[in-house]
Amino acid sequence: MNIKEQLNEIKKQAKNCFNCPLSENRTNTVFSDGCEQAPVMFIGEAPGKNEDETGIPFIGRAGQLLRNYLKEIGFKENDIYIANTVKCRPPENRKPSKKEKEACEFFLKKQIEFVNPKIIVLVGSTALESFIDKKTTITKARGQVFEKEFAGKIRKFIPIFHPSYLLRQHSERDGSPRFLFKKDLINIKENFI
Ligand code: URA
Repeated sequence: MNIKEQLNEIKKQAKNCFNCPLSENRTNTVFSDGCEQAPVMFIGEAPGKNEDETGIPFIGRAGQLLRNYLKEIGFKENDIYIANTVKCRPPENRKPSKKEKEACEFFLKKQIEFVNPKIIVLVGSTALESFIDKKTTITKARGQVFEKEFAGKIRKFIPIFHPSYLLRQHSERDGSPRFLFKKDLINIKENFI
């Protein structure tokens, strides 16, 4: 089986997963979007309403904001693979619990193993806490490359702001959250594609 077929098998398993209570209210599991051989893998928090309805990650307002920046900066479809820490929508868009993340970790681990990206972009604090350190903050950690062992090898991680935060921050002036978000994405493109 090639990588695409192997990931499709895992996707099928996720579709039929009832390992945590989030499965009870889902419309769709939200497994991934993008290219299975991409050098850059984005990991967000969890699906929201639009994602639950479509089965596609980062498709709502925050997702569109991220996707627009990626396009503007020149990322191509084949450059990116997108997933989340959990595959089903938490009620009221609350953060997924530790238990829910643990129940879903198998799928994310397989995604990272098979895609084997050059860099894993941790989108927002939930993804940051899952992989790096519960004590650090996204404001401190964003833009830095962290090397950690995960799914069988040392991997590179870089946290960035979550785009839902930027929906409330419109300025792009020097030092603003949007400015830093764009700067981080430009660095990722220049160094890992
Ligand atoms: N926010 C996330 O973290 N992930 C999505 O898929 C959508 C919004």
